[in-house]
Amino acid sequence: MRAFRKVGGTPIFFKEARGAHAVDEDGNRYLDFCMAWGPLILGHAHPRVIEAVEKAVRDGLAFGTAHRGEGELAERVLCAYSYAERIRFVVSGTEAVATAVRLARGSNGRHRILKFDGCYHGHVDSLMVKAGSGVITQGLADSAGVPAQVAADTLVIPLGDMDALEQAFRDQGDSLAAAIIEPVPANNGLLVQSREYLQRLRELTRQHGTVLIFDEVITGFRFGFHGYDKVVGIEPDLTTLGKIVGGGLPVAAVLGRRALLDQLAPLGPVYQAGTMAGNPVCLAAGIATLAELAEGRVYEHIEALGRHLDAALARHALKAKAQLPRIGPIVWPYFDVNAALPRAASAITANAVETYHRNYRSWLDRGVYLPPSAYEVCFLSAAHTTADVDTLLDVLNTGS
Ligand SMILES: Cc1ncc(COP(=O)(O)O)c(C=O)c1O
Repeated sequence: MRAFRKVGGTPIFFKEARGAHAVDEDGNRYLDFCMAWGPLILGHAHPRVIEAVEKAVRDGLAFGTAHRGEGELAERVLCAYSYAERIRFVVSGTEAVATAVRLARGSNGRHRILKFDGCYHGHVDSLMVKAGSGVITQGLADSAGVPAQVAADTLVIPLGDMDALEQAFRDQGDSLAAAIIEPVPANNGLLVQSREYLQRLRELTRQHGTVLIFDEVITGFRFGFHGYDKVVGIEPDLTTLGKIVGGGLPVAAVLGRRALLDQLAPLGPVYQAGTMAGNPVCLAAGIATLAELAEGRVYEHIEALGRHLDAALARHALKAKAQLPRIGPIVWPYFDVNAALPRAASAITANAVETYHRNYRSWLDRGVYLPPSAYEVCFLSAAHTTADVDTLLDVLNTGS
């Protein structure tokens, strides 16, 4: 996606960013709605985060031992995810998912994984099957380098299709190690699922002894000081986090109940380790970000931005060129006003994708930086204002 393959032209090179704005190497200033793909809920270079990182840097870049910051971030996260009792910090969302899948397999001795068409879970081999995000942008159904035997252990079903879900568990339930889903799929547009669907997935995984993984790399701490599990009232067995939990530096995590997490090394037989895992500088950014979020004002501000967006949309509905489905601060410009909002990857129209890509350069020329792919979502942050939201709407309504 960074290569701007779909939208064309020279990819953008940012040199500095603050608040809701970034400046490129040519000195052009942009209002940013990509926000580094999601971690920056406080905006770029938030003073509290920068101060915490500067202090941490002075105390040492890496320890390779346990340290106080791990306990501090663990407490903050576990307080938000009340079902979970243990957490393991890793470096990227991909690594968190890889660890969760290995843990699931190790816990029940099965191999097969169930995933949903269009959900992206990072570039873990076994999950590079009908993924989304960069994979779909480049039009790859899969990735070279993933052995057929590995892909064969991954069962893929369409999102939101209750019959396919029932059938998958009827046919394969007892051999499924894990089912993994983005509870709010946001890597292939925004394909919000019903509570009933997620609830049925929970029931079936429980009945069949399959570990249910909620991949909350995007959604964790996005809608309030909690996960999406709290929003829908459905507890998974494992949660993967990334993005916001590191506040802009590389931190990710796997969390869940003690019985499962204790199967990770050194207590249990499932190996996991990482030189940079729990890095003190990175954790300092995560701690500062969660400390700011815990105070609640950020969520109030973001909710006000969302309401402003909805009201403006309602006023301009007739001349809007795009639909803008939103959940909390996640907004997806969908350039097909005639089609129903998609709930599955296959329902995204070619027209919507083509219109986004065709108009992309004109938005950049007007100083607004959106994700350079029609399949990616925009993020509102604490640094955006209602005027910024108006600018977004204005820009999306221009072009051909
Ligand atoms: C839902 C989800 N899971 C996993 C990942 C992978 O995270 P990372 O890019 O940190 O490896 C992403 C990345 O966007 C994601 O959106």
